[in-house]
Amino acid sequence: MIEEAAKLLARSRFAIAFTGAGISAESGVPTFRGFNGLWKKHRPEELATPEAFKRDPYLVWEFYKWRIDLIRKAKPNKAHRALTELEEMGILKAVITQNVDDLHREAGTRNPIELHGNIFRVRCTSCDYREDLKETGRLDEFLAQKDLPRCPRCGSLLRPDVVWFGEPLPRKAIEEAFRLAERADLVLVIGTSGVVYPAAYIPQIVKETGGKVIEINPDESGITPIADVFLRCSAGEAMEKLIERVRRLI
Ligand code: APR
Ligand code: ZN
Repeated sequence: MIEEAAKLLARSRFAIAFTGAGISAESGVPTFRGFNGLWKKHRPEELATPEAFKRDPYLVWEFYKWRIDLIRKAKPNKAHRALTELEEMGILKAVITQNVDDLHREAGTRNPIELHGNIFRVRCTSCDYREDLKETGRLDEFLAQKDLPRCPRCGSLLRPDVVWFGEPLPRKAIEEAFRLAERADLVLVIGTSGVVYPAAYIPQIVKETGGKVIEINPDESGITPIADVFLRCSAGEAMEKLIERVRRLI
């Protein structure tokens, strides 16, 4: 199976990767589905909506600050690094991610397309103010602040610059992802349950336009029925083996 996947990758002309929370699991970032009420008995879905933020911005910010703090301590793993190497080899043309954890960029991937935003960015609920807390070096200060965060320009509430349930995806990112999917002759799908749309259309588009689908996941997902090769394995282990074989093939 791994051998077959390595051959397909080495032979591909325009391969892309599509990743989800599972690729960061081995970095210690909890996934969503299968996340057993760790957080105050709330499901992340119930905290990640515009309605929840209106109802109780304190609770939502508490949840996000907890996640930011957890994610900032996480480091990219073998799977993130293998994708960077595939990109450097010229095989992988793009990494499209549903993750907000910034770990693809940390691993050196050049321009990961972030469909669901980035947890280290905040934005104003009224004006177009945006801030990348990693870039401005204000992360510690931001996390320590007890009051609700407010926009320095207009005083309205700041919110995480992530996509919540029921919200549209950033237009440029999803348009680019769809364009890449139409062009791709192979998609490497890693660690996603494949049930959240429109993101989950990406492997389907690749398949419908005649491309191959390689999936890496320890469990079956919404993508498994269309996978040409299904590697039932954790992301780190599978990618380590895959990259070894691809190196030998090219
Ligand atoms: N390696 C690879 N895959 C793994 C691993 C691992 N070590 N551990 C778990 N997985 C798989 C699970 O089997 C599951 O299929 O990762 C997948 C994680 O699924 P979800 O938690 O649903 O994450 P994701 O698909 O990224 O969710 C999509 O939903 O909550 C929203 O906006 C959020 O971007 C997220 C979207
Ligand atoms: Zn503002």
